[in-house]
Amino acid sequence: EKEKSKRMIAFPAFFGEKIQTVVSRLYPDVNAKIEVGPNKGKNGDYQCSCSFLINKELSKMGQKTNPKEIANNLSQHFGDVSCLEKIEVTGPGFLNFYLKPNFVSSQIQDVLVNGVRAPPCNKRLKVFVDFSSPNIAKEMHVGHLRSTIIGDTVSRLLEFVGHDVHRVNHLGDWGTQFGMLIAHLQDQFPNYTTESPPIENLQAFYKESKTRFDQDPDFKARAYKCVVSLQGGDEDIIKGWKLICGISLAEFNKIYERLDIRLDPVGESFYQKKMEELVPELEKAGHLQFSEGCKLIFVEGQDVPMMVVKSDGGFTYDTSDLAAIKYRMVTSEADWGVYVVDSGQGLHFDLLFAAARKIGLVKPEQKLDHVGFGVVLGEDRKKFKTRSGDTVKLKDLLDEGLQRAEKKIRDKEEIKKEKGGAGLLTEEEIIACRDAVTYGCIKFADLTCTRTNDYVFSFDKMLDDKGKTAVYLLYALTRIRSIARNAGKSNIELLDHAKQNPVNLEHEAELKLAKTLLRFAEVIEEITGTLQPHTLCNYLYDISTDFTYFYDKCYCIQKDRETGEIVKIHMDRLLLCEATAQVMEKCFNLLGIKTVSRM
Ligand code: ARG
Repeated sequence: EKEKSKRMIAFPAFFGEKIQTVVSRLYPDVNAKIEVGPNKGKNGDYQCSCSFLINKELSKMGQKTNPKEIANNLSQHFGDVSCLEKIEVTGPGFLNFYLKPNFVSSQIQDVLVNGVRAPPCNKRLKVFVDFSSPNIAKEMHVGHLRSTIIGDTVSRLLEFVGHDVHRVNHLGDWGTQFGMLIAHLQDQFPNYTTESPPIENLQAFYKESKTRFDQDPDFKARAYKCVVSLQGGDEDIIKGWKLICGISLAEFNKIYERLDIRLDPVGESFYQKKMEELVPELEKAGHLQFSEGCKLIFVEGQDVPMMVVKSDGGFTYDTSDLAAIKYRMVTSEADWGVYVVDSGQGLHFDLLFAAARKIGLVKPEQKLDHVGFGVVLGEDRKKFKTRSGDTVKLKDLLDEGLQRAEKKIRDKEEIKKEKGGAGLLTEEEIIACRDAVTYGCIKFADLTCTRTNDYVFSFDKMLDDKGKTAVYLLYALTRIRSIARNAGKSNIELLDHAKQNPVNLEHEAELKLAKTLLRFAEVIEEITGTLQPHTLCNYLYDISTDFTYFYDKCYCIQKDRETGEIVKIHMDRLLLCEATAQVMEKCFNLLGIKTVSRM
């Protein structure tokens, strides 16, 4: 109970439970899924249409009634619920819930005093979120950028709800490509074991070694030998491998730092020994099928098997994922495994999950999710490439974003200067603003589209200060924050006031905004299930829309027309502004977007 009071109420779940109780009492034989949703129309704040389902069930059992009668019956037996103004039955049998304005006011006060909090969480789960996961020595591409952005938000969300989240970077740091890389390293920098070689461009180095591998049979043979030595643990070869991984990881880390991403590298190499142990285990248990020298696992309903061991005896991507899932779900006893990887790998994860369940690595109560996403397209709706047709380097992409954002900000500053110089930013503020806008826009543009759809990357669109963009929303937040500042009220003063006085909300526009703010918990609850961050982006936009409506209808500060002096400050409305700012701030935070105090 105490833990519960620390949480915000998710109304659909809250009403859903209450209805369920009444249904169980009135119609004990009925088994109907009860769903409550927000009602954006005129009939109340939340709506439930369970009477139709209940009617169906009853008529199957031969009982004659109708949805309207059932809805009336439910509403009469609902009992006193302190947050409710009334329950109304409309149409053929909808149940509509109206929140009490007083209750809404008290909840806004609660947000101000106790902060923006998550909805109740029944059980703290141990979750592995596998995301980003680029491949060593290869370019981290825009697909990995999507995984990084979505994975970070999913992690933030689950952490916020109270789960025990393990952020895992399943780096591609093992495999045959290291043979040619190390063989090339030996030729180019024979002293690599004692002196650190100055490899400036690892991607170019990769390409060179690949060319040699494809053209020179002697080199190819040596590369294979290197792989064997690497797997055998040869010291010098391991040194070379570590060296190459180190260079790559340093590059990846620069990107993570810029994007403010926290991630623990547990790459494929971590599973080398574990794969060696797993295969005989599986073989002994009779889980493997043999075909043309390969060892396979077939699962129901799929023609393609998992390739556990290739005919040359080598392991594959499948093998390392099997070992990884065992490590996560058996050894570490996770409750939930989340894989944020492009939808193109959907079949791989279907097979992996089915195989892992079939061979008993994952129990029925343990959850597994492949959080897939679409490909990144250029503005021509073709695969995202540079003008010359190369893959876009993430570093270059971020740099271009910074440049464009900075230009926009400086242009705006020029306009401010022309208008007399009010609100000019300091140089420091310009840089903070540039970074927040650039990374915020890239993240928001990605997160705001339904993740399973392909996504068109366009700097022009994401940096637009109108529409559903981070710039627009960040700007809206700074404006809201400036209202209290202009009234000369500090955060401490506002908080003090909120602690002592209920926030009085009367105007229809005030209540509309306040109720939208209180939807926060249900939005969090919803996306914890769907893992669809765009719902949170849409919600953030809804808040800004309702705020604009409120601000248009309700003055917060009244100024004298002639002198411009403040004649009246509407404290309750300032508090509503502050609550709005806090909920928006929390949403930005969950989206991994930094806010600024001035723009
Ligand atoms: N390294 C892989 C790639 O770039 C992604 C790995 C995703 N995670 C996993 N457990 N398979 O395609």
